[in-house]
Amino acid sequence: MSSVLESQNTLSHAHADILALRKDFPALQQDVYEKPLVYLDSAASTQRPQAVIDAVVTHERTNHANVHRGVHQLSQRSTEAYEGAREKIRAYINAGSCEEIIFTSGTTESINLVAASLGKSRLTDSDEVVVTWMEHHSNIVPWQLICEQTGAQLLAVPMTPDGELDLDEYDQLLSDRTKIVAVGHVSNALGTINPLEQIIAKARDADALIIIDGAQATPHFRIDVQALDCDFYAFSGHKMFGPTGIGVLYGKSSLLDAMPPYQGGGEMILTVSFKETLYNTLPYKFEAGTPNISGAVGLGAAIDYLSDINFEALAQHESDLLSYATTEFIKLPGARIIGTAKDKASVLSFTLGDIHAHDLGTIVDREGVAIRTGHHCAMPVMEHFQVAATGRASFALYNNRDDVDRLILGLQRALELFA
Ligand code: ALA
Repeated sequence: MSSVLESQNTLSHAHADILALRKDFPALQQDVYEKPLVYLDSAASTQRPQAVIDAVVTHERTNHANVHRGVHQLSQRSTEAYEGAREKIRAYINAGSCEEIIFTSGTTESINLVAASLGKSRLTDSDEVVVTWMEHHSNIVPWQLICEQTGAQLLAVPMTPDGELDLDEYDQLLSDRTKIVAVGHVSNALGTINPLEQIIAKARDADALIIIDGAQATPHFRIDVQALDCDFYAFSGHKMFGPTGIGVLYGKSSLLDAMPPYQGGGEMILTVSFKETLYNTLPYKFEAGTPNISGAVGLGAAIDYLSDINFEALAQHESDLLSYATTEFIKLPGARIIGTAKDKASVLSFTLGDIHAHDLGTIVDREGVAIRTGHHCAMPVMEHFQVAATGRASFALYNNRDDVDRLILGLQRALELFA
């Protein structure tokens, strides 16, 4: 009994620590339209803590030079900072080695890299690639492109009315023709958390490679790529409190090693001649050109920031916010929640009567509340739910119940205006 109490006390302490994190984010300390900003668009891009901003500014002010190319002091500092960030990311997601951490511009480039390179070397016109109806366009279109080039077929796992993946249908789609399964960890449009353990195990049984779009998962969970046993895991810096224009592709080194380069240029080669070009070792084979150095440094600082967070308390905080927001939202006349999966990240996608989502977004913005409206780069999800667009409030570690109350007030205002 006492140990249960002790752990509850520790958690409520940790929860208080989560609530205190808001002060670390300077962008959240401002007014818009003379009202304190309520930022509920973190699924599109999270705000950055001061520590990330400082790391980027310090790098730009004092350490910037190109990496891996100079013997001089600044180039050495820059290279150390860049490679140091790679090691932080490796340790944070528990990858086996830094060879498995490729810096990209973000999740979109990470998936395009795998689709183009792996697809070119592995897919033929008798093969199939399996994605899902829940995917962001960036986990659909790169596969459509490579399927067009190779003649492979693209299949999509349907969803249930709640917005969960239909795993029986997934079973039906898998066969010895399936070469690649590409699936999102968390849906950006619905918040659904997919049962990766089952999805990966089934892909393994079918002998397919598996790539996970983790863009919406990394701000909420700690990822362990070895425990997941996925082949590739893609994520973005700007969705996890880091800068834009930087992201990561984790891939098993045995697979990355066998894949052809994605882009040619400097850095990705060992030697170049008109007779033959030899490619660089991992991870550099996939990092052509001068990389986003300060972006990587900023992402390293975001990883430091996240490393200090109690993820158990964060999960409790975000689940409380989602259930409070859900309870308050469904009291509104005409409220419809889009995506009611059992297991959801802190995303509330909705429609309100027949008020267009863009009108909702504009009206709540005037009340100081930032939400996203539209199809969320997930048009098949809109098609499934037979809606043109939704409003989406997405919560992150810096939000609290007052933010939910302000959202509801903004939506009430919209209802009054459209009455
Ligand atoms: N993928 C981002 C979103 O969900 C832009 O809003």
